[in-house]
Amino acid sequence: MNNNELINLATAAKEKSYSPYSSFRVGAALLTKDGKVYQGANIENAAYGVTMCAERIAVFTAKLEGETEFSAIAITSDSKDYIPPCGSCRQVLLELCGEEIDVLITNGIGEVKIFKLKDLLPFSFGDKNLNG
Ligand code: THU
Repeated sequence: MNNNELINLATAAKEKSYSPYSSFRVGAALLTKDGKVYQGANIENAAYGVTMCAERIAVFTAKLEGETEFSAIAITSDSKDYIPPCGSCRQVLLELCGEEIDVLITNGIGEVKIFKLKDLLPFSFGDKNLNG
């Protein structure tokens, strides 16, 4: 699975977005170390605060399937601008996927920026803080 294939799967997932309030569709595709992909799309709610982001749907689905080892997540939207993961998603990705995963952030004109998750959420809170 190369980066373009993972991005294409995120774009395909975006088609399943339920976003009647923002009309902002987001798709995500999370790649495990052994090559499986879990997709997600944002699901909104009239009580806006319980909306769920595409990335977390992908991560939670993978977690339910028992996945523990991940290598990358790709994120897409319809915007011409880059779509970085929100702060809540960064926190969940860090805890469930690890700080070393690659985060593929795309824009609407086919460009990609790749970050290590640890660079998107430095000096983070985690289980290490609870046990220290
Ligand atoms: N959204 C995501 O799915 N992922 C992010 O990282 C940022 C925001 C969604 C939530 C909401 O449905 C819409 O984008 C607008 O905020």
